[in-house]
Amino acid sequence: MIEPLPVAGRPPMQHLQGRVVENRSLGGDLWLLRLQVPDLPPAQAGQFVHLECGADLTLPRPFSILDSHPESQDIDLLYRVVGEGTRRMTGWQPGWVTPLLGPVGRPFTPPPAGMEAVLVAGGVGVAPLDFLARTLVAQGVSVTLFLGMESEAPWPLRQASATETLEAGLALAHLQSRGIASRLASLTARPGWFTGYVTELAAAYLQRLPPDRRARCRLYTCGPLPMMAAVARLAERFGLQGEAALEARMACGFGGCAGCVVLIRAGEKGYYRRVCVDGPVFPLGDVDWQQQGH
Ligand SMILES: Cc1cc2nc3c(=O)[nH]c(=O)nc-3n(C[C@H](O)[C@H](O)[C@H](O)COP(=O)(O)OP(=O)(O)OC[C@H]3O[C@@H](n4cnc5c(N)ncnc54)[C@H](O)[C@@H]3O)c2cc1C
Ligand code: FES
Repeated sequence: MIEPLPVAGRPPMQHLQGRVVENRSLGGDLWLLRLQVPDLPPAQAGQFVHLECGADLTLPRPFSILDSHPESQDIDLLYRVVGEGTRRMTGWQPGWVTPLLGPVGRPFTPPPAGMEAVLVAGGVGVAPLDFLARTLVAQGVSVTLFLGMESEAPWPLRQASATETLEAGLALAHLQSRGIASRLASLTARPGWFTGYVTELAAAYLQRLPPDRRARCRLYTCGPLPMMAAVARLAERFGLQGEAALEARMACGFGGCAGCVVLIRAGEKGYYRRVCVDGPVFPLGDVDWQQQGH
């Protein structure tokens, strides 16, 4: 049964201006953009900004917040060039000013005390999970991040030795220096990377954990839909809870147009929810992955 959209309370967000501080290629089609956004309310992992990429482009484009630096009022975005809007962004020079809306959406929720976080990212879906990993570890939560990428990794890698539960392999150096374990997966064989789907890597990790420790894991995911659907199946298989940050084509970005709705289950019922303001983060078990095509 599908019920009409509820009018949910809107999280605080504002129409603001972002001034480009830095915009650099990370190799391939990946770019890192730092914007200074005066008066941006504090941002949390999972939230995004809705960014105008050109005055003549009808719709703004949504990008997850990779990091927030309240002291300098800067935010970082990791973006992949896929079309006209992102292609134009690559030409932005320091000083360029662009209107934006943010921070938009409901962020990830930290796991209850005593639980571990297992993060499964695909491609640029790593942006909100990298932010989440650093946030959680600062709160004393143990975090392991798995990243599947078919292009080069966006950050420097460092060799990590095998532990009781993780095979030896390359890890993201900036996370390793903060005590966050990570491993990389690709469908193409590369030295130090797991060859296969990132969800196979995460499954092998969970399988190897002692059952009482595995039961204390909470899953978080962001990336391509088939990958997140596979993470939802992993959660079912191991009896775990988790959250997924969904993507959808967006128009208004503030809950007004219903252009971004997805089907969310609540028991026997289904409800349409707006990815922009009711999400983008939803409980893994509530997303109707079949309706999403997976
Ligand atoms: C909540 C949210 C967070 C996002 N975070 C990031 C991020 O951190 N980094 C990043 O690189 N991208 C992110 N995206 C996707 C990003 O918004 C799109 O890649 C961007 O809007 C494409 O704009 P464009 O004009 O370059 O491409 P377009 O010319 O508009 O489209 C080119 C291609 O990109 C696909 N596309 C466009 N918009 C979306 C979308 N919203 N979701 C999925 N596919 C899309 C189209 O189907 C098409 O194949 C996010 C999307 C959402 C909804
Ligand atoms: S984009 Fe308009 S309601 Fe989500």
